[in-house]
Amino acid sequence: MDILGIDVGFGFTKATNGKDSIVFKSIFGEAAQIQFRDQLLDQAGSESHLHLEVDGVPYFIGELAERQSNVCSFTLDHSQFIESFAKTMALGAMASLMPESGSVRIVTGLPVSYYQRQRDQLASILRGRHSLVQIDPKGTRRELAINVVQVRVIPQPFGTLLDNMLSEVVEISDKRFAQSKVGVIDIGFRTSDYTIADATKYSERGSHTTDSGIAQGFALIANKLREVSGVKVELYRLYDAVAQGSIKIRGKTIDLKKLTEEIFTKLATAVATEVDRLWAEDWDMDLIVITGGGGAVLAPYLRPLLQGEVLAVDASKDLRLQNVRGYWKYAKHLWGRNQTAPEPPTEI
Ligand SMILES: Nc1ncnc2c1ncn2[C@@H]1O[C@H](COP(=O)(O)OP(=O)(O)OP(=O)(O)O)[C@@H](O)[C@H]1O
Ligand SMILES: [Mg+2]
Repeated sequence: MDILGIDVGFGFTKATNGKDSIVFKSIFGEAAQIQFRDQLLDQAGSESHLHLEVDGVPYFIGELAERQSNVCSFTLDHSQFIESFAKTMALGAMASLMPESGSVRIVTGLPVSYYQRQRDQLASILRGRHSLVQIDPKGTRRELAINVVQVRVIPQPFGTLLDNMLSEVVEISDKRFAQSKVGVIDIGFRTSDYTIADATKYSERGSHTTDSGIAQGFALIANKLREVSGVKVELYRLYDAVAQGSIKIRGKTIDLKKLTEEIFTKLATAVATEVDRLWAEDWDMDLIVITGGGGAVLAPYLRPLLQGEVLAVDASKDLRLQNVRGYWKYAKHLWGRNQTAPEPPTEI
């Protein structure tokens, strides 16, 4: 029985089986015929090659879709994301991390404000039997029959709490996280999620989802680029450019450093204002944790604006993966001990 943590984010889908982790852009497109399959140089790894047939329909997923599909689907709309993206992205993650056909149990998450409304829908989209074919870079087909027997959905920022709280052997290792009042700021691509756990108990009052994700900043950068170059740059093509500080459009290199600094400063201010408002009554907070890929890039701007103790961001870790590491640890904690026990009936 496999156990997976899967975090389908608006920007990136992240997943882990405890040993290996994968991250790919949450986009897909129609599979084009690739006439010339050999790589010219052996550099681009096969991990970015995600080609699946789901119910007989072929898809390119993630970076492969970005490179090869004529039309790429990408959305920042919540309902559309769950209905049209979640299953394909999660199957891409399962195909990448499951060595063979079999049963799997999954812990996944939703933004806190969508949790009540969409958790049953998300669980039922993922649960059950899925037949797919995975096609590798050489064109070899691998048939996979996956049976998702259990799905547990938790509010996304709880992944980060659980990752900090549970050790590799999924026992409670950090009592501070188990006993204190901890606020989590999870900045993603589309959403910013805020939550408070008081001795691991969820605080409804301190939990909320807003639109202050990195995409808001990227949209301003894309507008500026359109003004100066006339080219409409899709938001999912800006990650590398913003990280590198420049973009080349039609042979002209455009510097993005100053604009990005300005925009990230504004975004961090917006997040800090939301935190002040949302957590106004929670002046007894022990610790604040910044997480999510957006948290990694905004932390230098955000930390000075927050009041109280803020956990240092570990620059050596990919913060995009923190929620999903927690999902996996939780899954292991829930189901890992009785692997040899008879399978419980399918449930949420
Ligand atoms: N190595 C990296 N590569 C790409 N983006 C990165 C990297 N490190 C940090 N980032 C930032 O991470 C952001 C995406 O974070 P994350 O994966 O947590 O979002 P998401 O979970 O997909 O979005 P949401 O939570 O809104 O659904 C990007 O916008 C980018 O600014
Ligand atoms: Mg996220």
